[in-house]
Amino acid sequence: MKIAVIGTGYVGLVSGVCFSDFGHDVVCVDKDPAKIAKLEAGEVPIYEPGLEELMAKNVDAGRLTFTMDLAAAIESAEAVFIAVGTPTRRGDGHADLTFVMAVAEEIALAAKDYTVIVTKSTVPVGTNRKVKQVVHKANPDLEFDVASNPEFLREGAAIDDFMRPDRVVVGVQTKRAGDVMNDVYRPLFLRDFPVVITDLESAEMIKYAANAFLATKITFINEIAALCERTGADIKQVSKGMGLDGRIGNKFLHAGPGYGGSCFPKDTKALARIGQEHAVPMQITEAVIKVNEEVKRRMVDKLLDLCDGSFNGKVVAVLGVTFKPNTDDMRDAPALTIVPALVGGGAKVRVTDPQGKHEGEALLPGVNWVEDAYKAARNADLVVILTEWNEFRGLDLKRMAKHMTTPRMADLRNIYSTKDAKRAGFDAYVSIGRSSLEPTTDGES
Ligand SMILES: NC(=O)c1ccc[n+]([C@@H]2O[C@H](COP(=O)([O-])OP(=O)(O)OC[C@H]3O[C@@H](n4cnc5c(N)ncnc54)[C@H](O)[C@@H]3O)[C@@H](O)[C@H]2O)c1
Repeated sequence: MKIAVIGTGYVGLVSGVCFSDFGHDVVCVDKDPAKIAKLEAGEVPIYEPGLEELMAKNVDAGRLTFTMDLAAAIESAEAVFIAVGTPTRRGDGHADLTFVMAVAEEIALAAKDYTVIVTKSTVPVGTNRKVKQVVHKANPDLEFDVASNPEFLREGAAIDDFMRPDRVVVGVQTKRAGDVMNDVYRPLFLRDFPVVITDLESAEMIKYAANAFLATKITFINEIAALCERTGADIKQVSKGMGLDGRIGNKFLHAGPGYGGSCFPKDTKALARIGQEHAVPMQITEAVIKVNEEVKRRMVDKLLDLCDGSFNGKVVAVLGVTFKPNTDDMRDAPALTIVPALVGGGAKVRVTDPQGKHEGEALLPGVNWVEDAYKAARNADLVVILTEWNEFRGLDLKRMAKHMTTPRMADLRNIYSTKDAKRAGFDAYVSIGRSSLEPTTDGES
């Protein structure tokens, strides 16, 4: 089967590589010449574990190519996937559909035979119908269908998520388009992964509802964590006790410095906006957005307390800046709120992150990048764990504390415990949702 994927970002590239691994003949298109040059040289422009190897395998097998020439790429493609960005539109929180609509028009002008135009980008309800209108207007003679196929992969585990999904969601209007989508995902059908076939609007809504629900779950546990801090309860024990309830589940119940990343912040804002447009306010989602902002600000207050009320002149070591481990993605990361607050308050900030420097350098002016956690902590007044990379889970805390000016730690991912920190020689340790006064009793982390 011949497939074209437009946009070679986190979603488009992973989708293209995995489709080619299914055995399809795939062309990946991007308008960014630097990205295409890298891909043609066998390099992956993003950090995603396992992607480079899988890409090389399929390029070698002759099933995967890259180009900037959209018209050539979609010639004879049975399905064309739109996987370009849908960032928050400046000013109103709506998803910006400029890139999606521009690509739809380009496809319309270049396509010759029956094509299924599939939107993989996360788009507001009603967008696929608009894509249909745009394509029809640009090329009234073209025989085509639209399909909605939202993506649920997680950065850092993207290949596994794509190859072994919880479900595939496909919204279609015709049997013909449904048959094409069946062929695209046949390898997953055959292995009994659930495929949910819906109408266009439901498919679009599923994506926003799923992301808003997950963001709500994270935000809920973060709010409970704040209450734990005041009441003496321990959020790790609370999460465990809640998560064992099969109706709740243990995922997305880890308290932290607030959600970030390329999806939750923009998708919650877009859902709130869709609700306003239809006069059905998404009150829960709106509260989640507000509380998440407060959670990030609360983190700054925690650090300020540890610095005796002023960042001025303090040396602060920040471990991890990407929005989560195993990605280089910095979009809407909590670090983008917390680090500027430190720098703005007069702290000398040293940052280390296994993959974050490339993106982070431009986004975090005024910080010094160092190779590892020990270099960052040398002569520092405070160490802050912001992202739970594996590298930071097994630190030699004693070695770290020994070389700090004032050994203090803010563990915003609850990797360690008061007991660990005290034993290593830290004289202050704060985490999320756990009393900083008493050693924790769980003895786990
Ligand atoms: N990143 C994720 O984890 C994730 C997960 C699920 C869904 N999504 C959704 O998938 C979509 C893409 O997200 P992403 O993170 O991959 O974005 P991204 O910004 O990493 O990639 C988008 C790519 O599209 C390219 N592009 C833009 N306009 C183009 C055009 N006219 N022609 C060709 N290429 C063009 C850009 O150059 C860029 O390489 C978004 O709607 C997002 O919400 C993302």
